[in-house]
Amino acid sequence: MALTAKRYTITAALPYTNGPIHIGHLAGVYIPADIYSRYLRAQKKDVAFICGSDEHGVAISIRAKKEGVSPKEIIDKYDQMIRTSFDQLGISFDNYSRTSSDIHHKTASEIFTKMNDTGKFIEEVTEQLFDPEANQYLADRFVTGTCPKCQYHEAYGDQCEQCGSPLNATELINPKSILSGATPVLKKTKHWFLPLNHYQEFMKEWVIEGHKDDWKPNVYGQVKSWIDDGLRPRAVTRDLDWGIPVPVEGADGKVMYVWFDAPIGYISSTKEWAAKKNKDWKPYWKDKETSLVHFIGKDNIVFHCIIFPCILKASGEYILPENVPANEFLNLEGNKISTSKNWAVWLHEYLTEFPGQEDVLRYVLTSNAPETKDNDFTWKDFQARNNNELVAIFGNFINRVSVLTQKYYDGIVPAQKDLTHEDLKTLNKMRAFPGVIGGSIERYRFREASQELMNLARLGNKYLADQEPWKLIKIDPERVKTILNVSLQISATLATVTEPFLPLSAKKLRGILNISNPINWNAIETSKDILPAGHIIGSQKLLFAKIDDSIIQAQLEKLEATKKNNSEANYELPPVKENINFEDFSTMDLRTGTIVEAEKIKKTKKLLNLKVDLGFEIRTIVSGIAESYSTEEIIGKKVTVLVNLAPRIIKGVESQGMLLMTENKEGKLIIVGPEDSNMDNGFEIN
Ligand code: 2FM
Ligand code: ZN
Repeated sequence: MALTAKRYTITAALPYTNGPIHIGHLAGVYIPADIYSRYLRAQKKDVAFICGSDEHGVAISIRAKKEGVSPKEIIDKYDQMIRTSFDQLGISFDNYSRTSSDIHHKTASEIFTKMNDTGKFIEEVTEQLFDPEANQYLADRFVTGTCPKCQYHEAYGDQCEQCGSPLNATELINPKSILSGATPVLKKTKHWFLPLNHYQEFMKEWVIEGHKDDWKPNVYGQVKSWIDDGLRPRAVTRDLDWGIPVPVEGADGKVMYVWFDAPIGYISSTKEWAAKKNKDWKPYWKDKETSLVHFIGKDNIVFHCIIFPCILKASGEYILPENVPANEFLNLEGNKISTSKNWAVWLHEYLTEFPGQEDVLRYVLTSNAPETKDNDFTWKDFQARNNNELVAIFGNFINRVSVLTQKYYDGIVPAQKDLTHEDLKTLNKMRAFPGVIGGSIERYRFREASQELMNLARLGNKYLADQEPWKLIKIDPERVKTILNVSLQISATLATVTEPFLPLSAKKLRGILNISNPINWNAIETSKDILPAGHIIGSQKLLFAKIDDSIIQAQLEKLEATKKNNSEANYELPPVKENINFEDFSTMDLRTGTIVEAEKIKKTKKLLNLKVDLGFEIRTIVSGIAESYSTEEIIGKKVTVLVNLAPRIIKGVESQGMLLMTENKEGKLIIVGPEDSNMDNGFEIN
């Protein structure tokens, strides 16, 4: 797949400004899009890398209502936070706009009006869900219920997050309003629909026949199944007070559906960029020689591969995406990343907690990117990839080369003498790397590309370890010149191919080697001397730093605290049971005792075999408390015992009573009774 287009419009999904960016967003969308765009620039291509804030989602409205502030306050806060953190991570957007901007409102309104004027919509009065308590129509996202496809009971009205199916809120089983909890009722309202069914044939030809071989199987498969299912009309307007007003008569109080306006945001953002650069935006969206690529997460596939292309097609003139390399999801320590549960590694927090280590996150998220399946981010893996790969392989190689060059030659690149078979083999291998890495990037295989990058550093390390210049310097100093020359060529190649992945480290490495601009990616393959003899390298610096266990431990503890908070917040007290009368209660004989022996009952998770000294006798009691207490900690504890419970055989042991326990918020069983009291054993509680 050669890069033959005349120019490239690269878009990264516009993030909703209802929360900060987390590692899932980065691994799925922004890091691969940035690597791709940086690589295209290294190939001297004409690139517009476009993004911006998506500020009209219902999620924003919900958040604003919850916090009792205006949606504007929410979007301003997160737009600022998101753009700063992207910038610090080195995401090299050519333009980052906002869908609340005038240029976007104007662009989206023009497209809507044109589509309306040319009869591309159908108007229909339909029955929509209405919240009788909140007295308003409910946007799809304001309704939850059971998914009719997979029975997931917390599906949203627009999409089921479990099976990914796009839904209409009226399809949900047992719908509930998020606003008031009320059961919504159906009420008539008029809406504008995009008749996707009219595009069935076009979609079939364009995707099913046209992109079978070049789209990722996960993307192609999802789109194909929707098309096979039969496309249906989809409403592109909503009864809401937050969004772009529908610019046609008879639509008062209605706004565009967020998924109608958001992707148009790519066009508005391109316009904004072009105006700043004194360029014409049109070729980036209308010229057939432009390659349009959308980087998105898998939950956005339907919108970018069906709805937006139909809008582009309907408006006429626009090009369609050449590829939509959507990624799967990244999990965190085995659990789904969740903004509402705060189960995430937040970019803005990472940037303050790991200053100067922006590239470590870029590297880890690339080498573990969820390209073909969902993947897991763990802090241990983060540490291992930093310490064992970036530090021990890449950084170590560069450090050895720069230290030895300074030490033996005062930083001046020595000339090559006779090249041995090993030198030639190593140089040939090195020259192949830019092509291999570029090929992987062009096929959207960023993980593979990052591993090749590390393999180049491995090649350098192995070469140095095999040649042992530190030994040869005493016996064959001429040979050492060649060895270091070859090693410096590898270092310079690394500085070039590292740039799209680890831009800050590449810059640092260029400083170490004293090269002002990246070396031409494609020239390496044929060039004899990438770093010419006589060139003076810069001062020695460490490229990467080791991350200690204590740093990782602190992150794990932070997640533990989140888990604890969540379980406390979710804890619901069980309802109080029905009353009993005093006579019933007084039949219970409760005594206090001390646990004198404890032993786990084999092949069970919860059961302990206890011996309890009641003062008048020692009883055997089998109790299901093993998940809350270890045998060591329970011995010696004072407990309250129901002593007149009829004996029962449990796992072959006769249990002669029951310990009184209650459960705390974390689900731990707590001893009820005399722990701190001065009651004597055998005391009768009455
Ligand atoms: O899923 C999301 O975060 C959306 N805000 C993505 C929008 S992409 C584009 F169409 F604007
Ligand atoms: Zn479902």
